[in-house]
Amino acid sequence: MFSSLAIAAGLACAPMFGGAAPATAGAATGPVAVAPSPDKRTFIDDLVGRMTLDEKIGQLRLISIGPEMPAAKLMEEITAGRVGGTFNSVTRADNRPLQQAATRSRLKIPMFFAYDVVHGHRTVFPISLALASSWDMGVVEKAARISGQEAAADGLDATFAPMVDISRDPRWGRTSEGFGEDPFMVSQCARASVKGFQGTSPANADSVMAFVKHFALYGAVEGGRDYNTVDMSPQRMYQDYLPPYRAGLEAGAGGVMIALNSINGQPATSNKWLLRDLLRKEWGFKGVTVSDHGAIDELLRHGVASNGREAARLAIEAGVDMSMADTRYLEQLPTLVKSGAVPVALIDEAVREVLGAKYDMGLFQDPFRRIGAAAQDPADVNAESRLHRAEAREAARKSMVLLENRNQTLPLKKAGKVAVIGPLADAPIDIMGSWSAAGVAKQSVTLLQGMREALAGKGEVLYARGANITDDNRVVGYLNFLNWDNPEVVQDKRSSGEMIEEAVRVARDADVVVVAAGETRGMSHEASSRSSLGLPGSQQTLLKALRSTGKPLVLVLMNGRPLTINWEKDNVDAILETWYAGTEGGHAIADLLFGDENPSGKLPITFPRSLGQIPTYYNALRIGRPFTPGKAPNYTSQYFEEDYGPLYPFGYGLSYTTFSLSEVRLSDRKLARQAKLTASVTVKNTGARAGETVVQLYLQDVTASVVRPVKELKDFRKVMLAPGESRTIEFPIDENMLKFYNAKLEHVAEPGDFNVQVGLDSESVKTAIFTLE
Ligand code: NOJ
Repeated sequence: MFSSLAIAAGLACAPMFGGAAPATAGAATGPVAVAPSPDKRTFIDDLVGRMTLDEKIGQLRLISIGPEMPAAKLMEEITAGRVGGTFNSVTRADNRPLQQAATRSRLKIPMFFAYDVVHGHRTVFPISLALASSWDMGVVEKAARISGQEAAADGLDATFAPMVDISRDPRWGRTSEGFGEDPFMVSQCARASVKGFQGTSPANADSVMAFVKHFALYGAVEGGRDYNTVDMSPQRMYQDYLPPYRAGLEAGAGGVMIALNSINGQPATSNKWLLRDLLRKEWGFKGVTVSDHGAIDELLRHGVASNGREAARLAIEAGVDMSMADTRYLEQLPTLVKSGAVPVALIDEAVREVLGAKYDMGLFQDPFRRIGAAAQDPADVNAESRLHRAEAREAARKSMVLLENRNQTLPLKKAGKVAVIGPLADAPIDIMGSWSAAGVAKQSVTLLQGMREALAGKGEVLYARGANITDDNRVVGYLNFLNWDNPEVVQDKRSSGEMIEEAVRVARDADVVVVAAGETRGMSHEASSRSSLGLPGSQQTLLKALRSTGKPLVLVLMNGRPLTINWEKDNVDAILETWYAGTEGGHAIADLLFGDENPSGKLPITFPRSLGQIPTYYNALRIGRPFTPGKAPNYTSQYFEEDYGPLYPFGYGLSYTTFSLSEVRLSDRKLARQAKLTASVTVKNTGARAGETVVQLYLQDVTASVVRPVKELKDFRKVMLAPGESRTIEFPIDENMLKFYNAKLEHVAEPGDFNVQVGLDSESVKTAIFTLE
């Protein structure tokens, strides 16, 4: 598993326990650690056998770099062998002295350095929800690969990603961090991300270990309110919410971060069933688990522990290996072990996993594997040359979804006057999205900049801000809460009337108006649940004023969750969903608006018409009184004051060209066990320009022993077609794709009829039927 990098680099390896000279502060990449035994188990058993109880407990501490722990104290703790790893320090220069301190500890056990590298590191890629919108696993994997490489080049060994929580409730601010609502799609993205972050091995010097999070079911918090309760049937868990975590682990992720929520009455952090029975026994996970920030402490507030001692005991018994950013393990485990309340075997088990992860990261072979030598440190960590702009632009181009395009308003001509308006038109921080890691706002390309560059020498860009993101001071106060000294949301001091007046003047002078509206990145973040999903009032008023100018109106949405944009859908001419498009966002949006790239993204999550309609996920279970289009709605399941169904369905997205889809052809009407049949469709580009679309395969179990969904995504293909070109897509279908968890939680495919549904979105589908024998 280990590459011979350290040896190739000429680093002599000294035995760890036998008097290797401790690295001094001046030594850059001291050969302090070890040539580990090729057998991981023997190596770790040997090491654990030499550790004192304090050293073992030290390995279970994952400390946040920051005000919670002064630097001098941290160095002292590391040298004493009382820290397993840290997170939030993001340069080689910052991590080097910490690793050097570890190499001065008695056993010289290396530290690992982690960070939330979710959708980029120095280069910020589009947010995960956007990456999923590409329906292109190559895009998802490449974004993670480059993010991992950039992170590793900054001395990081691990990332707290991918976040693979299914989110079916867009009120939840963390919807932006995940890959949407669908188990199959999120599982695919989980695999692709893990492969990207870890490369061929987490031991590689240019890879980071992936920590799949948040285990488990965090996306199902009641009411979409962050940190809230999760209460869920085992069938729904197994069928819909658990598969993405498992997919990430099967792809080789070395770590798991445990969720903050409770599950059916037991916090994940003290949940033996979750962490021992399911994760370890049923799934055979062999890596390390970490609690989320302060979660062991929170067992007190959950009310399952009455004091710190009990919290630490519950967590270690449940299978939490490392404690993130709380002191309960440090304070309580020594006495818990000495009093016999916690067997030392439990501590050893957790320590083995921590050491095992470090072994797998290649750190015992060379603790400075990713930190490298000081002489090779980048002079400027934010140097342009360290960015991957071309790849970020390409990913962003693939990640946007064209929601509306009346009268072929788009693409725009590169000529004349374009008014660029809106509170997000020139917003370099917001375009990076939540969890933008080490991204630097001044390196982001805003929409305004992208449009100016695209039109340079050919046309003119006029600009007006038009509105503040919101006029609600309470919201602004909330968003700036953690950043009083350097607020992210800076309000224009002019009155909304003055700003709109200016915007209308600018719009009247232009040939077309492009408005960037939506949410600041803080509105789609951890702890940013919303109780309404419309554009804030200030922006709605702006749009209405601009509509009244009669100019063609293009809405560029920047947001991290589905929004209820009913008025906008009916009243603006074109809508491009750009999510938060990252460092190269402005260039990529301009590429799409001017038609240098044809939009090809599809929604990985349903857009509701109203808040009251939530949940709107497409793969709902069947019911006894469904609404049937064209029939009277009375005594059917719907909301009588509004139209039935979502505003935009899962899988939806337009292109500048058009496509047609043939009927579905099946290779056979019957499927035998262990056999395969093929569903084929022919997709044709019926328009005048080349473009990509996504052909989506859904299946429905017509009759089963338990209620099954109306449809479930089982496969998809993204295809590029020249004008007039047709392609036949073949989807193999086998018994495995028909399996589900029955009432006894057995994973079975039951005989009977299955409905094949193929479409370019989840709603308009062509169907055929076959029988599993
Ligand atoms: C809390 C968040 O829930 C988690 O996703 C993140 O990885 C940790 N903080 C560390 O930053």
